[in-house]
This record gives sequence, structure tokens and C-alpha cells, in this order.
Amino acid sequence: MLTTLKNISLKQFNTFNIDAKANVFYNATSIHELKEAIRLVKENKQELLILGGGSNILFKSDFEGAIVHPKIEGIEVLAQTDDCTTIKVGAGVEWDKLVEHTVNLGLGGLENLSLIPGSVGASPIQNIGAYGVEAKDSIEKVHGIYLDNLEPFEIDNSDCKFGYRDSIFKNELKGKVIITHVVYKLSKKPKLITHYGNLEDELEKLGGVSLQNVRNAVINIRNAKLPDPEELGNAGSFFKNPIVEVTLVKQISEQFDNFPFYPVSDKLVKLPAGWLIDQCGWKGKRIGNVGVHKNQALVLINYGGATGEEVINLAHDIRQSVLQRFNIPLEMEVNMV
Ligand code: FAD
Ligand code: EPU
Repeated sequence: MLTTLKNISLKQFNTFNIDAKANVFYNATSIHELKEAIRLVKENKQELLILGGGSNILFKSDFEGAIVHPKIEGIEVLAQTDDCTTIKVGAGVEWDKLVEHTVNLGLGGLENLSLIPGSVGASPIQNIGAYGVEAKDSIEKVHGIYLDNLEPFEIDNSDCKFGYRDSIFKNELKGKVIITHVVYKLSKKPKLITHYGNLEDELEKLGGVSLQNVRNAVINIRNAKLPDPEELGNAGSFFKNPIVEVTLVKQISEQFDNFPFYPVSDKLVKLPAGWLIDQCGWKGKRIGNVGVHKNQALVLINYGGATGEEVINLAHDIRQSVLQRFNIPLEMEVNMV
């Protein structure tokens, strides 16, 4: 049965731990319940927000509408070959539980994405990525329903327009669909990706390269760098890493030795926003209830009791100082509500 909560605090439903309120919150455990919830939202002419794990959302203020929380569980094996297993996973499955499960089965593809918070249903939306791997590398299809007519759809990977922290779901289909299931094709003979950052060093400490060790190494690195939202409210990287012209890198390199950047094409490079923010002196700074994490300048923190407005003001000041110093406009990764 569709569970309905009224006038609730969203504090436990967003990793920034912002104490915003919502008028109505529907917890839907099946496609049938999702449709029922959407019908009710339409009948009551409410604004709709789909909320997964709330780990990439900042509530600017109370939400005067209805929240639909897809809690569809289940991992179903669709096909097996000598090389691959294809699985269909419910949108409500916790992302890291899926990664743990697939690694335990010896299936490769998701291990570098260990410990990313949130739900399976959100994984295609910004095409989650970490340690040289993106969700798009394993996604075969995305299933969902259209919000206007409640009809089902299936979109193949090649039509999802996946890019760096980007997909069709953040653009043409934004606000038009609910993702109900994601289909992943995973390898029984995985090629492990270990070139990113200090992953190789961490693997050596763990005794060498294996599927389980890649997961453990990623977990260790993440635990050392990123704050645990249970202890310090945050939503991971607040901004995207900007993609800029190579010429700009040449200018910056003239002023800084060992300036980190990653080539994207002949003409474009990706710059670490964390480094840019760090150079502007923000790392570890605290202003009232909000601040910049001491180990990762790309992560904004709620020390407790912060409002969304306070986080936005800090983000604005950071953006301004990076713009002034480097002439690079940072784009937000976190979704504002
Ligand atoms: P939510 O925050 O609930 O929602 C995000 C967006 O997706 C919203 O617009 C929402 O409306 C929409 N949405 C959610 N579910 C559905 C659905 N079923 N159908 C339609 N729309 C939906 N991200 C990375 O890519 N890489 C990282 O390494 C990473 N590290 C992180 C570390 C920390 C500590 C934290 C807090 C976050 C990190 N993130 C990272 C960001 C976040 O974990 C991902 O973006 C994740 O996919 C968000 O999932 P969610 O279920 O919490 O989505
Ligand atoms: N750096 C600094 N100072 C800082 C932070 C970073 O100098 O305060 C430098 C690092 O030394 C390194 C470079 O910047 O040379 C990149 O840092 P890091 O490897 O920590 O990764 P990132 O680019 O900051 C990205 C993703 C993360 C993902 C990691 C690992 C984005 C916006 N962020 O961070 O994703 O986990 O790589 O792959 O692309 C997220 O999206 O929420 C997220 C956490």
C-alpha cells in the first residue's frame, strides 16, 4: 500500500541534513504505487519532486509540494553468457548495496563506484562517476514511466546522451519521467581499472589487484578524503569539474608547478574544481554553520543547523572568488530545490 506522510521534516532524507519541511511524502514500493502517487499529486495540483537518497540535492527552503520516493527493490538476472550477466535493478535499491552484491558475485563493472551514496534510480541521471569509471560503462537500458501519461518507456544506453555528470534525464527528460529500473551488463571476466589517482598505491597496500581489492581500495580512499554525511552534512562535490580550452591551462601552468588537469580532447581539458577552490584559500574555512571540508575543497559542509540559504551563500562566494582569480565560472553539480 502507498505510504503517505504529511508535514514532515526532510532532514533524514537529504545528506546535507537540511531541516526543510515537505507537505506530503509518498513512499512508493512498486510501479503501481508510483502511478497512484503521481495521480494524487496531479489531482491535488501539487508541485512534484522525485527524491531518491537525497545525496545530490540542496533544499533552499521548505518544499511546498509533494515528494515521491521510489522504493522499488529487487535485483533480477535477465541473461547470462560465458562472459556477462545482465541484471535489472529496482530504482529504490541502495547504490552501494548493489555494488557490494555484484562484487561478491565476482561481477565486474561497478567496483570503482563503491561507496557512492544514493539510489540505483539516480545512477543514470548524472551518470555517476569515480576513479576512472562511469555508470554509463555498465548501463544497458533505463526503464521508467512518463509523468504526463503514466506510460512505460525503455531507453537504450546509446540514446541516454550520457556525458560527464550528464544525461538526457538532466536535459530533455528533466521533470518528465520517473526511473523505475536500471539494467546493467556486468562482466564475469572484468578488466580492472586502476590508473586513477592513488588507487594503485592503495591496491599495493591491500596486497595486489583483485575485484574485491579494487572495491576496498576505493572505499579506503573515499573514507580518507570525503566526509561521512552521517557525521557532517554534505552532498559530495558541490560543483562540477570545469571543462576548458587547452590555452587556459597553458596560462595557469605558467603560474603554478604541478597543476593537475585531465585531457578530454585535443582542444579541451578538465580541471579539478577542488584545486581551483583550494588555491583561493577556501579549504577548511568555516562560516557559521557551513564550511569547506578540510580534506576536499569541492565538498561544502553543514556543521549542523545550517539552512539551504547559508550553503548557497557560501557556494556563491566560492564561485565568485574562482571567477575572479582564474576567470572560470563553476557550474553546480548539486540539484537545487
Ligand atoms: P537524489 O539526490 O535523491 O536525486 C538527485 C536527482 O535525481 C534529483 O533531481 C531527483 O529528482 C532525481 N531523481 C532521483 N531518483 C530519481 C528517479 N528514480 N527517477 C527520476 N529522477 C530521480 N556522485 C558521483 O557521481 N560520484 C561520486 O563519487 C559521488 N560521491 C559522493 C560522495 C558523497 C559523500 C555524497 C553525499 C554524494 C556523492 N555523489 C557522487 C553524489 C550522489 O551520491 C549521486 O549523485 C547519487 O546518484 C544521487 O543519488 P540519490 O538517490 O541520492 O539522488
Ligand atoms: N585537489 C586539491 N585540493 C582539494 C581537492 C582536490 O588540490 O581540496 C586536487 C587533488 O590533489 C587532485 C585533483 O584536485 O590532484 C582531483 O581531486 P580528486 O581526485 O579528489 O577528485 P575530484 O576531481 O575533486 C572527482 C569527482 C568525485 C569523485 C572523484 C574520484 C567531480 C565533480 N567530482 O572529484 O565525485 O569521487 O573525482 O573519481 O567530478 C561527486 O560527484 O559528488 C564526487 C564526489
